Amino acid sequence: MIRKLQLSDHQTLKTWTQHFQPTPGFYWTPQELFDSWKVTDIWGSFEADHLIACLCLQPIGDSAEILWLATWPGKTRQGHMKGLLDNAKSHFTTLNLEVHQSNEGAQKLYLKAGFKEVYVRKNYYKDGGNAVLMTWTAGL
Ligand SMILES: CC(C)(COP(=O)(O)OP(=O)(O)OC[C@H]1O[C@@H](n2cnc3c(N)ncnc32)[C@H](O)[C@@H]1OP(=O)(O)O)[C@@H](O)C(=O)NCCC(=O)NCCS
Repeated sequence: MIRKLQLSDHQTLKTWTQHFQPTPGFYWTPQELFDSWKVTDIWGSFEADHLIACLCLQPIGDSAEILWLATWPGKTRQGHMKGLLDNAKSHFTTLNLEVHQSNEGAQKLYLKAGFKEVYVRKNYYKDGGNAVLMTWTAGL
């Protein structure tokens, strides 16, 4: 089941972010993940009551900026993020994001979902890594 997280999901998200193990190429700390919720929407993919995957986006009119997304380790490659991206596509006409150039898995996910690479921002991340800017537009 996919739904937007509500205030009542506060503890679930807190636990989830604290236990989520970041992987190479993913540069959000648990505190940053949690804090980002103040100015964004976070959509979750659930199995029963368990939060399996999250997609955090900032709506800007009929577009949205995807800030971060993650699937619980051990639950990847089961279509959870594809489901969350499809859900985001049903609400917006354009989706934008940036991804660390070293994060090949995420870039493959985005390309499979129809995103196109539009620009590379040099030395964008704290470790000196480049950011790849990608966009998806309905109908293209
Ligand atoms: C990247 C990530 C979100 C993918 O989530 P997921 O739930 O496993 O993705 P899905 O199962 O929906 O994948 C859909 C398709 O995307 C592609 N894909 C996803 N992850 C991939 C990977 N690591 N390598 C290659 N292709 C991948 C595949 O084509 C996949 O379809 P398939 O499994 O039938 O081949 C997950 O690996 C993750 O949480 N990574 C750590 C956090 C992160 O890097 N977030 C992105 C930066 S904010």
